[in-house]
Amino acid sequence: MRFEGKRVVVTGGASGIGKATVEAFIAEGAQVMMGDLNSEAGDAMAADSRFDNRLAFQTTDVCDVDNLKSLIDNAASHFGGIDILFNNAGAGGASETIDEITAEGWDTTMNLLLRSVALGTRFAVDHMKEAGGGVIINTSSINAHEAGWGPVAYATAKAAVRHLSKISAAQLAKFNIRVNSISPGFIMTNIFANSFEDPTEAQQVDTAIRAISPMAQPVSRSGAADDIAQAVLYLCSDQGGFVNGTDLTVDGGITVGHRHSWDENSPGLLDLIQENVGGNS
Ligand code: NAI
Repeated sequence: MRFEGKRVVVTGGASGIGKATVEAFIAEGAQVMMGDLNSEAGDAMAADSRFDNRLAFQTTDVCDVDNLKSLIDNAASHFGGIDILFNNAGAGGASETIDEITAEGWDTTMNLLLRSVALGTRFAVDHMKEAGGGVIINTSSINAHEAGWGPVAYATAKAAVRHLSKISAAQLAKFNIRVNSISPGFIMTNIFANSFEDPTEAQQVDTAIRAISPMAQPVSRSGAADDIAQAVLYLCSDQGGFVNGTDLTVDGGITVGHRHSWDENSPGLLDLIQENVGGNS
């Protein structure tokens, strides 16, 4: 019960990583206010008797500045303050490559993934100052570390979230507020299927992703939302009290190095040279 008496705000709490984190915080004694676009799923969670009235939900679009501020201010008045903020809501955003991206796609993606994190922090800090301190966790991604995992606007926003977290940690330390980011790897949630409008295509993508996910990284099982939730709780706990301004990658080792370093069936450069030499001799 590391979070008994703690007051937590989670954005994007109605699904995937956010939902698992809401559940984990409540299991360890916290009270949680969650905001999400998905009213149906949010209302159903808030009505779930397992949460023993320790979960409140407010329909929120984190791209709407007034909406986001209202979520945070209402959480503070509902609970009498805020101790922890998890800026987590997100989606794939604009899918175009840099040679095709539109201004609208770029701005929408940045507002969802980056501006919401900056302003969520901005609004929560007023309440955390009153509480004498707090902890903020921002969801970045392995896209912030390497190319090749997602679209350019998404990856750029996530890299900025990682850096924003570092700067925020520096600027907010004097208020006793710690800020870290977390970089999930390939985690089995709805985010991939949700990028497809056609339900049949979405279902096919979901099935394919679930089939390949255990083979995607050195740890030979799928990444689960709770893997990220447990890391978020560590960063917010007293045990994580000396961790500040850093990014915690939780990816089963997918970014450990080239695939051939851990997958003996994947040819490395030396294997390719060897094969070529063999072919020519
Ligand atoms: P998810 O699709 O299961 O959950 C995302 C939640 O955010 C949904 O409940 C959705 O309704 C909500 N949301 C989307 N736009 C919103 C908005 N404008 N306002 C409020 N709520 C909104 O996806 P998942 O995977 O749990 O994603 C959570 C975070 O993790 C995102 O920031 C995502 O970019 C990040 N992430 C996910 C990875 C994965 O492999 N699943 C990998 C790296 C990062």
